[in-house]
Amino acid sequence: MNKIQIAPSILSCNFLELGKEIEDIEQAGADLVHIDVMDGHFVPNITIGSLFVEAIKRIASKPLDVHLMIENPGEFVNDFAAKGADIVTIHAEADNHLLRTLDLIKSAGKKAGISLNPSTPLSILDHVIHIVDLILIMTVNPGFGGQAYIPFMEKKIKDTRKLIEKTGRKILLEADGGIKADNAKKVVQAGADVLVMGTEIFHSKDYKAKIREIRKKIG
Ligand code: DX5
Ligand code: ZN
Repeated sequence: MNKIQIAPSILSCNFLELGKEIEDIEQAGADLVHIDVMDGHFVPNITIGSLFVEAIKRIASKPLDVHLMIENPGEFVNDFAAKGADIVTIHAEADNHLLRTLDLIKSAGKKAGISLNPSTPLSILDHVIHIVDLILIMTVNPGFGGQAYIPFMEKKIKDTRKLIEKTGRKILLEADGGIKADNAKKVVQAGADVLVMGTEIFHSKDYKAKIREIRKKIG
C-alpha cells in the first residue's frame, strides 16, 4: 500500500483567511488540499466554484484534490482542470456518461477520480476501473462537513481495495466524511490510503499537532 495521505477539506476552514489556512495546513503536513464543490442539485448545499481553485492554485504547493458534487460534471471538468485541479473526482451517480467524462479528465492531463455515495454499489466501477486514478468512497452522505461517520462503509472500503488489487494498477483509495483521529486507523485498516478530514483538522487549535496525532494513531 502507498503512504497514507492526509487531505484536509477546506469546507471547514475560515474562508476569510483562505490563503493563510492553505499555508497553515501545508506547513502542518497535509499531503493534498481537498476542495469540495457543491451545486445545490446533486447535494443540498452550494459551496465554491472554479474561481476558488484558480486562486488556491496560485499559493498552494500541494496537489489540489477537487471533489465535484455536481450534476453533469462533464460540462465542467475541463474548466476545473484548466484552473489548476490536479485530481478531478466526479460522482458516479451524477453522470450518464461516466466513461466519457473520465476520459475528458485524463485528456486534460489530470488524475481522474470517481466517487460513490454510501448507497451506491461497487458494481458501477466494473467498466471504468481500468482508467481511474482514484476511487473515493463516501463515509457520509455528501453535502455537509461535520456529519457522523458511517462505520459499515469499512466493508465497502475493504471490497474496493480487493478490486483495486485485482486490476494490478496504481489507484488511490480515498475515504471522505466523518473521519477523525479516533477512527482513522479503522479506515486505513480497511484499505484507504487517502483520508479526507474537514472539521477534525480545521476545528482544531493546532493543525500541526492534530496531523501529528492522526499520523501517530494510524501508525
Ligand atoms: C462532504 C464532503 C467532505 C467534508 C468532510 O460532502 O465531501 O469532504 O468536507 O468533512 P468532515 O471531515 O467534517 O466530515
Ligand atoms: Zn469531499
